[in-house]
Amino acid sequence: MSLDAHPEQRVIPRHVGIIMDGNGRWAKAHHLPRIEGHRRGAQLVRDVAGWAVDAGVRQLSLYAFSTENWSRPQQEVRGLMQLLSMMARSMLKELRQNGVRLRVLGDVARLPQDARDAVLRACEQTQDGDTLDLVLCLSYGGQQEIVAGVRKALAWAMAQPDPQAAIAALDEQRFREFLWRADLLPVDLLIRTGGEMRISNFHLWDAAYAELCFLDVYWPDFTRALFFNALSDYAGRERRFGLISEQLSG
Ligand code: IPE
Ligand code: IPE
Ligand code: MG
Repeated sequence: MSLDAHPEQRVIPRHVGIIMDGNGRWAKAHHLPRIEGHRRGAQLVRDVAGWAVDAGVRQLSLYAFSTENWSRPQQEVRGLMQLLSMMARSMLKELRQNGVRLRVLGDVARLPQDARDAVLRACEQTQDGDTLDLVLCLSYGGQQEIVAGVRKALAWAMAQPDPQAAIAALDEQRFREFLWRADLLPVDLLIRTGGEMRISNFHLWDAAYAELCFLDVYWPDFTRALFFNALSDYAGRERRFGLISEQLSG
């Protein structure tokens, strides 16, 4: 199904988040080592960025490695980090051609130097891209992001003439400024492949009102058609943000 199938398609999500899950199980199903699943999965990243550009999505954030993933077997972590370095280098030309600006979200300081250098260089060299923000979530955890935000907010408040008043004035909008990427839009559509129905510490703050889409395919089997299906499904949802239908139509 294409987007055209939905006449009332007034909403292209501005920010799509994807939990790219199922690489390991894909590999197992194909009698391959887990890292081969990750390799296939990594190859898809540039494709999805292209589909998002075609669809007119502004921000695409891809959950590539969680804070908790550091506790996986060292060999797998090492393989993933090598893959990340290779991917950041090999994607560069295409990202630039497509006007994609690469950014990272997460505790990048934990990445091994080679991976960190490659990713940060790719971010720097694509900084003029104005078609799509491709946000790679690396060493990312939603809880960790919020705790870091609280620390920052408190430090800021302590430095104010009246710290108590500064803390009392913190509301959702102001607090949002203290999170890792102040310029991220709220997640409109959150897609998770791999069949699990959970958030796994992704975008806890920004996905407060995201529409959720859980797909029963492993990440390496994700396709353009599935991506556009998810957008089409999203376009048919009524986002009420706590209100009632009648309030929205007015
Ligand atoms: C997602 O695939 C990629 C990462 C978490 C790095 P998984 O590696 O979690 O694959 P499954 O869930 O074991 O199949
Ligand atoms: C979520 O997948 C993290 C990424 C896709 C990067 P996991 O495989 O780590 O999540 P759980 O352990 O199934 O919740
Ligand atoms: Mg998984």
